[in-house]
Amino acid sequence: MAKAAKSSFVCQSCGAISARWSGKCVSCGDWNTIVEEVTSAPPPGSGLTRASKGRTLTLETLAGAPEEAPRFLTGMPELDRVTGGGIVPGSVLLISGEPGIGKSTLLLQLAAALGRAGRRAIYFSGEEAAAQVRLRAARLGLADAPVALAAETSLTNILATLGEEKRADLVVIDSIQTLWSDALEAAPGSVSQVRAATQSLVRYAKQAGCALLLVGHVTKDGQIAGPKAVEHVVDTVLSFEGDRGHTYRILRATKNRFGATDEIGVFEMAGSGLKEVANPSELFLGERDAKAPGTSVFAGMEGTRPILVEIQALVAPSGLGVPRRAVVGWEQSRLAMLIAVLEARCGVSFAHHDVYLNVAGGLRIVEPAADLAAAAALLASLGNRALDPKQIHFGEISLSGAVRAAPHMGLRLKEAAKLGFTEATIPASGDPNADGAKLKLRRVAHLKELAEALGPCD
Ligand code: TYD
Ligand code: MG
Repeated sequence: MAKAAKSSFVCQSCGAISARWSGKCVSCGDWNTIVEEVTSAPPPGSGLTRASKGRTLTLETLAGAPEEAPRFLTGMPELDRVTGGGIVPGSVLLISGEPGIGKSTLLLQLAAALGRAGRRAIYFSGEEAAAQVRLRAARLGLADAPVALAAETSLTNILATLGEEKRADLVVIDSIQTLWSDALEAAPGSVSQVRAATQSLVRYAKQAGCALLLVGHVTKDGQIAGPKAVEHVVDTVLSFEGDRGHTYRILRATKNRFGATDEIGVFEMAGSGLKEVANPSELFLGERDAKAPGTSVFAGMEGTRPILVEIQALVAPSGLGVPRRAVVGWEQSRLAMLIAVLEARCGVSFAHHDVYLNVAGGLRIVEPAADLAAAAALLASLGNRALDPKQIHFGEISLSGAVRAAPHMGLRLKEAAKLGFTEATIPASGDPNADGAKLKLRRVAHLKELAEALGPCD
């Protein structure tokens, strides 16, 4: 007798499987995310039949000649930087980002660059018709690039096409959520379809040794749609971020099996596609109104590269019982902490003021060393004064108000000197190296010193 197809109930948000439907997922707590899905047999060739007996493996040691992963450069230096020095053949990269941020544009440019360098690049578009992709290629001036293109959403057809390929160096799937396999009954975009498509494609990429780039959608809160399972099976997860009101786009690695995850790539969305930005500091400081009150310049680090960025604060009298605190490009909780430290340790009160903090240019700062620059901007705005436009700040502030040393002091100061800054307010501890000699250094050990230097604020 044929076995009846079994169904299970899968949360589309976290991938948890339960035996029956419920309105709320017990695993992640989300509402209305559970969908019935028919589970199918394991894919043929995976060796997962019940009767098969295991084969004995030869166990090895960790020692041995290290095999440096061979990489190929993409021809886009910013992308090479984020991936850790180029793409590893046989690796799988997932690129996620909000709709319209430029994922398809980036990957088309990448495929074209590789095609022109003599590599075989294949682009499968599941979202746009071939004519639309061609139109974009023409707009980007890439129409003559040797890229193989197909508009397809059937996983079976894609795998069959790839099976015929003798030498593919790069395969782009735009996007993984549009693929569907007829072996499964679930709808395209559902957890089981996405998972099955990813697994089959990953298996192909590892066997054929070609680099696979998957586009992944994100949900409204920035998570990659579909289960975490996709992020686990791929080698690298890149997120493409940026504010749609700005032209800057930042590519950030959140997972990388072949390199560090702290590097960022900076691009600018222009009329003719994405342009690489080799010196982001100049870009982020480009439109600065240096005489505006309440702005400071933070000398930050993104990976191994120093980036200078403007921090703007607005502290205005509040008409509300509970004053507003809003922040763009920084953590809300970090701002709350900073205000609390300023109030408790420096005697400055924000109790009757709304506080707005903005990181210029659409950059998102995660470094704690931005504390001192944010504090300077807040104090300057409260006192309605402009800081010296040739001054930079960095340093982490602890809950006691002490200013802690930040890593890579020398690199930050060197970049500041290069861009014409003359003064730096930095932590009292830590070694600024020889690069510190180029600027006038103001070393602060406690936040109070900064508050006092910026004058009486009440
Ligand atoms: P797209 O790559 O389609 O985004 P995604 O695949 O992430 O959804 O990019 C679409 C946006 O980029 C669109 O809003 C227009 C803009 N754009 C430009 O500004 N210049 C260009 O040359 C191209 C191709 C797109
Ligand atoms: Mg797209």
